[in-house]
Amino acid sequence: MQKLMVCFSLVALLACAVTVFPPPCESEIYCTGPILHQVQKAKLFDDDKYFVDMKLRAAPDIVLLAFHNLSNESPNMTVPVAQLQEFLSTYFEKPGTEFETWTPPDWHDKPKFLGGIADQELRDWAEKIHSLWKSLGRKVRADVQDHSELYSQIYTPHPVVVPGGHFFLSLFCRYGFVPNGGRIYYERRSQPPFLSLMVESYYQATKDKEFLRWYLGLTLEKEYRFWMQNRSVSVKVNGAERVLNRYYVQVGLPRPESYTDDLELAEGLTDGNDNEQLWMDLKAGAESGWDFSSRWYKEGNIRNNTTLTATRTSQILPTDLNALLCRNEKALASLHRIMGDGDSATLYDKAAARRLEAIEALLWDAESGAWFDYNLMTHSKHFEFYPSNLAPVWAQCYSQPEMGEQAVQYLKGSGALQFPNGVPTSLRESGQQWDYPNAWPPLQHMLIEGLSKLPSEEAKQLAFDLAQRWIKTNWLAYMKYEAMFEKYDVNGDGKPGAGGEYEVQLGFGWTNGVALQLLDQYGATLTSGSRAVSSGLLLPLFISATLMLQ
Ligand SMILES: *[C@@H]1O[C@H](CO)[C@@H](O)[C@H](O)[C@H]1NC(C)=O
Ligand SMILES: *[C@@H]1O[C@H](CO)[C@@H](O)[C@H](O)[C@H]1NC(C)=O
Ligand SMILES: *[C@@H]1O[C@H](CO)[C@@H](O)[C@H](O)[C@H]1NC(C)=O
Ligand SMILES: *[C@@H]1O[C@H](CO)[C@@H](O)[C@H](O)[C@H]1NC(C)=O
Ligand SMILES: *[C@@H]1O[C@H](CO)[C@@H](O)[C@H](O)[C@H]1NC(C)=O
Repeated sequence: MQKLMVCFSLVALLACAVTVFPPPCESEIYCTGPILHQVQKAKLFDDDKYFVDMKLRAAPDIVLLAFHNLSNESPNMTVPVAQLQEFLSTYFEKPGTEFETWTPPDWHDKPKFLGGIADQELRDWAEKIHSLWKSLGRKVRADVQDHSELYSQIYTPHPVVVPGGHFFLSLFCRYGFVPNGGRIYYERRSQPPFLSLMVESYYQATKDKEFLRWYLGLTLEKEYRFWMQNRSVSVKVNGAERVLNRYYVQVGLPRPESYTDDLELAEGLTDGNDNEQLWMDLKAGAESGWDFSSRWYKEGNIRNNTTLTATRTSQILPTDLNALLCRNEKALASLHRIMGDGDSATLYDKAAARRLEAIEALLWDAESGAWFDYNLMTHSKHFEFYPSNLAPVWAQCYSQPEMGEQAVQYLKGSGALQFPNGVPTSLRESGQQWDYPNAWPPLQHMLIEGLSKLPSEEAKQLAFDLAQRWIKTNWLAYMKYEAMFEKYDVNGDGKPGAGGEYEVQLGFGWTNGVALQLLDQYGATLTSGSRAVSSGLLLPLFISATLMLQ
């Protein structure tokens, strides 16, 4: 799961000069060890994430010693449930105390873009969504800095918009990549590399060259190097070495926040090495943001609807990741050029050109007219539909102009446009949340933005059509539930999506962001497309920070 909301104006003062790569998470409470193992196995809470987000009431060594004592008195060193519960209430407190609410000081109640929305109902609704930003601001309490050993939360000095507590430049400064979340147990797992594009957008909006100078060398190049050093593979095709990227996390342990799920999944596997491989690949799946999906299954397991044990994320070269890195390379070239550093710009131009060749050698399929994920085990493409197959259109990363239009024809013939509420994540109903019938806001956005940049009227019209469907879906669900959801079902009259490891989340940063962006871009012609549906079911608009913050 990934959420991209950052308040850049607040991070501009951040110092990023001293960076030390930390060791992997060594907490014997939150990341490994018998307390984690026994508490999670006892399933005392609905969600495994609950325990690893709890705050300690005493120093870690005291808690560890107390647990050691307790285990010694217990049969087989296994603490019975009643004592385990007593131990937790003595030494832990419930999650949530690490944050305080915060209102962005630069928030305006009537931003200009509202005036461009013709449909009155949509305009009022956009104003409501816009006001949600005020309720989604959070700041990490000073106590987390003063007593960091008592929290799994990582202290960051700057407030954030949630969900998106994970996305801050200060975390980047500490790790050299943007970690998967703001908790110590997410260390070593990155986010997809969006940082350069965020800085580029910020620069385009502000023309702040000081900001750019500061972050370009210290931050953006470092993120790029991380991806090239730690997440790239070289593949030989027709005698030439091609380098592309993948999601890959070299930590062969269960995810602390989904501990029992991961243990149970591995139970059927006979070989210990298989466990480690599976856990690494589940983490790589989390790193991709598509956690989880049949997209990451072994070849042959995608169609026959097997389980998550078939996940082999690290053996796949994903189209969207490589398109994103291509866009990073172009952004880095352009930002260096803006700063007058022609030599560095040329290096990134060359990197982008090499990637383009690699993408076309490995991922492009001329017959289908689209790009597909490449499987490193079978040395073949997965000819499955995913919106990510059109990511190179969004990234404008293809060599022949007609490829973009061919991709439009591919999309039209894919069967993915037949649903009233948006484009599904795949056409496979696996029970995983990044599959049919769920539609996710960032994927709609990527498709619409890509299509809208193509020259043909047909592509532009399709972009508008998808924007209209998506706005209608968001609007109908809002009318019914008074909430914005993290994902929607492609069928029915505006209903939230389901499936996956946790309950559907309300809120929701990226949903609000995509809806507002589309209302800004197409406000003159979009309509709510329906009579208002009476709101029978009033779900609370927000859920607590505990649930929202990953
Ligand atoms: C653990 O046991 C030792 C030895 O019996 C005792 O001195 C110590 O106070 C105990 N510690 C805790 C935290 O219960
Ligand atoms: C302790 O372990 C032994 C051997 O693994 C097992 O037979 C026994 O049932 C266990 N006892 C308890 C109370 O779990
Ligand atoms: C990235 O690779 C370098 C060199 O192999 C290694 O030292 C470093 O620990 C890796 N970083 C992560 C986060 O895996
Ligand atoms: C699914 O297909 C794969 C590859 O053909 C096979 O190994 C696996 O056993 C199949 N699983 C099921 C549940 O049919
Ligand atoms: C595949 O399996 C999942 C989980 O068991 C189930 O929810 C889903 O409906 C199945 N899909 C199909 C097409 O049978």
